[in-house]
Amino acid sequence: MEYINNELVFGPYKKPLLPLCANYARPIYVYDLQFLEQRYQKMSEALKGVRLFYAMKANSHPQVLQKLKSMGAGADVVSLGEIKRALESGFGPEDIVYSGVGKTRFEIEEALRLGIYQINVESLPELERIGEMAAAKSMKASIALRLNPDIDIKTHPYIATGLKDNKFGMELSLIPALIACLQKYKSSLELVGVSLHLGSQMLEFAGYQEALLRLKNVYRDLQAQFPSLQRFDFGGGLGIFYDRQDLALEESLLQEYAQITLSTLTDLNASLQSEPGRWLMGHCGVLISQVQYIKKTSQKTFAIIDAGMNHLIRPSLYEAHHEIIPLVKKSGAMVCDIVGPICESSDFFAKDRSITGVAEGDFVAVMDSGAYGYSMASQYNLQDLPLEICI
Ligand code: LLP
Repeated sequence: MEYINNELVFGPYKKPLLPLCANYARPIYVYDLQFLEQRYQKMSEALKGVRLFYAMKANSHPQVLQKLKSMGAGADVVSLGEIKRALESGFGPEDIVYSGVGKTRFEIEEALRLGIYQINVESLPELERIGEMAAAKSMKASIALRLNPDIDIKTHPYIATGLKDNKFGMELSLIPALIACLQKYKSSLELVGVSLHLGSQMLEFAGYQEALLRLKNVYRDLQAQFPSLQRFDFGGGLGIFYDRQDLALEESLLQEYAQITLSTLTDLNASLQSEPGRWLMGHCGVLISQVQYIKKTSQKTFAIIDAGMNHLIRPSLYEAHHEIIPLVKKSGAMVCDIVGPICESSDFFAKDRSITGVAEGDFVAVMDSGAYGYSMASQYNLQDLPLEICI
């Protein structure tokens, strides 16, 4: 965190934040597109030869999507809403990978009509449904099987997806039934890929590597029967640090992740794909909020700000840590709970946090809110959604 003339500047390009508050009316998400460009470049250099499909659930702001499209990314989507937003932002159907466990008939109908590049199938009944619907339209759908290798990547249980008690992907024991279904619908289903996503905020890779090794064998067996199988999609999930600013260490983790991925999969001769979200956008956004009250009780001091769990739910939902930094540097420190206006005791951003003297009217930045911030926001309590500004 850096201050210039006592004012907080944001990101590697040291962008001032305080001027954005000149006409402040409600909390603001600020996204630095130049920083995003840097992150995308670093990831695509490390994962050379891999096609990146940005997981737009992390942040679907049109300018974020346009930026990523202009740099060569595709889009990983999980709903018709996201498909529409991707198309409106310049992506074509040939740039879109469609994941998600609950695709409705209507959504599949639209995906088929558009000719989406790849549909990642998450269950046998879904495969059956797509086979039947594509057959009725005399079409051939491009299918990837999302497999669940039952592997623990040591992340928060709410964002782990590759364990057998998760609803995501398909167990390896289901493969014979999947093959039978693909054969039944051989005129309407084309197997083009195998996909994997073990979860999010992954910071160590032992389990990930084991999963790659497991799926590599599965891929080989499937390819022997389905020569159309050419793509290996190794998902997203690479984590970032929320408790410290150490981009250099993060980049070395990226190198380690890339090295494990590329060296494990190199002899597969597959086109490699990935679906990163958080790593690209997480650091590139902050949420600016204004302190409304400093409330002292016999037990605690609360800094009550005008952003709440409705604007950024990560601390309430996962007890996630976000740094909270005043926009103007002051002296003195206090220990307080930083909370929002929402009528829930889980509406907090930080507990017993030491923060340099904030007072009523001051602005704070909730750092690293570029991913899963606005995209998870709601209007609970009929609070307005935050503004979003791209710089
Ligand atoms: N691909 C699939 C199929 C996914 O489900 C996800 C995220 C991604 C890619 C992107 O993962 P990433 O690279 O961003 O880790 N709301 C939570 C994160 C939920 C992630 C869900 N799936 C949070 O705020 O931590």
